[in-house]
Amino acid sequence: MAARVIGKSTAVASSSNLPDYERGRASFTWADARRSLSGVNIAHAAVDRHVDEGRGDVVALRFVSELAPPRELSFAALALESNRFANALEGLGVKPGDLVFALSGRLPELYIAMIGALKARCVVAPLFSAFGPDPVRQRLRAGNGRVLVTTAAAYRQKVAPVRDDLPDLEHVLLIGDDASSVDGPGVQALARLMARASTEYSIAPTGAEDPAFVHFTSGTTGMPKGAVHVHDAVVAHEATGRFALDLREGDVFWCTADPGWVTGTSYGLVSPLACGVTCIVDEAEFDAVRWYSILEQERVSVWYTAPTALRMLMKAGAEPLAGRELSSLRHIASVGEPLNPEVVAWGEEALGKPIHDTWWQTETGAIMVANYASMPIRPGSMGRPVPGIEVGIVRRDASGERVLDSQGNPVLVAGPGEEGELAIRTPWPSMMRAYLNAPERYASCFAGGWYLSGDLARIDADSYVWFVGRGDDVIKSAGHLIGPFEVESALMEHPAVVEAAVIGVPDPVVGERVEAFVVLGPGFEPGEGLSRDLMAFARRRLGSAVAPRRIACEQALPHTQSGKIMRRVLRARAQGLPEGDLSTLGASR
Ligand code: WT7
Repeated sequence: MAARVIGKSTAVASSSNLPDYERGRASFTWADARRSLSGVNIAHAAVDRHVDEGRGDVVALRFVSELAPPRELSFAALALESNRFANALEGLGVKPGDLVFALSGRLPELYIAMIGALKARCVVAPLFSAFGPDPVRQRLRAGNGRVLVTTAAAYRQKVAPVRDDLPDLEHVLLIGDDASSVDGPGVQALARLMARASTEYSIAPTGAEDPAFVHFTSGTTGMPKGAVHVHDAVVAHEATGRFALDLREGDVFWCTADPGWVTGTSYGLVSPLACGVTCIVDEAEFDAVRWYSILEQERVSVWYTAPTALRMLMKAGAEPLAGRELSSLRHIASVGEPLNPEVVAWGEEALGKPIHDTWWQTETGAIMVANYASMPIRPGSMGRPVPGIEVGIVRRDASGERVLDSQGNPVLVAGPGEEGELAIRTPWPSMMRAYLNAPERYASCFAGGWYLSGDLARIDADSYVWFVGRGDDVIKSAGHLIGPFEVESALMEHPAVVEAAVIGVPDPVVGERVEAFVVLGPGFEPGEGLSRDLMAFARRRLGSAVAPRRIACEQALPHTQSGKIMRRVLRARAQGLPEGDLSTLGASR
């Protein structure tokens, strides 16, 4: 099935954390993995445990930025600062189970707040800092957020405009020394609160099934859903950090994802710290020269990034790489969108290491499928299931519906190579435990002991999983999941728009670009002025991460007989495919 295989030297294979995949799988149990973490609160497993075991001086987080010198937090310092934050929350009357939202750039205070909130048994709900006021309001409302940790600038731009719509929001804690520049109900400077709080805190007994994180994610229909994850998830984060990312003591690990998304919290914080390694956090945005210099100067040994970023580096060419000393790099992995075989090969040529694809979702909480350091990569494949995880492929019928037997159990494909829906045998520690306030939607993700991922894939005879496409209309742009409905709803708020459809159009760098089609109401004429106005409107409301890159005015949009917009037809048109033949569009990404 694989056109070619990128091999492994025996030395790499034998020294990795999973030297023999089959044996590692056979001997692994979640119960053993759980026991080695000695306690279930994520903050304990990721931070305090290392201090207790004598590793307090190891650097946990090292923040690099464009302008200021690097700042570091050892495990011991992170333990004390997060204690302070836990005390501060309790002082405000915030209770276990309350949601603490976070909306900020990658600043030390953000990470301290997330760990501190977990200690206080609050539920951390990260928001992406490139969201506009609409997505922020939507998520804060869905989670009845009482507490928000943010910055003065983000508050002014994204929260103040919608504050009247957030009656539950009691406490807004502002990072930074410009906190006094903002006035609003419950707004106060985080630094003042922290200064008054004690560094002594003892984590109350935490249940494995107590909620720890809510990660908002998008589907085809409706507004984003809050996937609820529990403290037990750390068992999967530690195990997958070891197996899939090959994290070992002494490693310097850089996950480039933002903690506003699940990758940036699961693998930018929880997993590497649970493994006791040093995490690099880059406070600035992508820049090819800076990124190479971070890899070089910080002596990064394990790097977890995304295909879009790698394609951007490829595009930047050889010059920013010339003369770099990247010999510290031992393992490179990627996630979030299809990793083209060319990128795997480019890694080997340009960086001296191939790229190891991994697959997972917000709902799975942790890596489920990976290419391991010890194994040959089959470029184009997402790898093999991690120890403790069983995957299957569920048959789809000609119209794309799941095939279930008379008892409602999914019917698996007959053999290797047949395409269908990627499914995972339940349960595993980092599996989502609910969608906030949406029990039916949650239930519809499971059947007969399987979690149904919505992704289309096939598995070859050697258990390598190959991505085929998504089974729905969700858009993946620069690795970020974007729900068309959320974008359409914002566009519909514009007085000129009566109907809107939003799709992902293939893009060589970011995977898919968000594009919109709108029908104008009576009295509105398409034209450059209106287009500019619509674009500005969408950007202001949705923010740069979600706003469409192009908005086209149409006379009418294609509908099904029942009146639903057929985004697939628009996708076919945008790609210049015949609209009648939609069979390949599931795989259009
Ligand atoms: C969707 C999940 C990135 C993980 C956490 C965020 C797509 C993920 C791959 C891959 C092709 C991939 C899938 C999946 N995806 N990894 N290696 N190859 N597609 O997860 O935002 O919930 O997105 O990302 O479509 O369902 P997420």
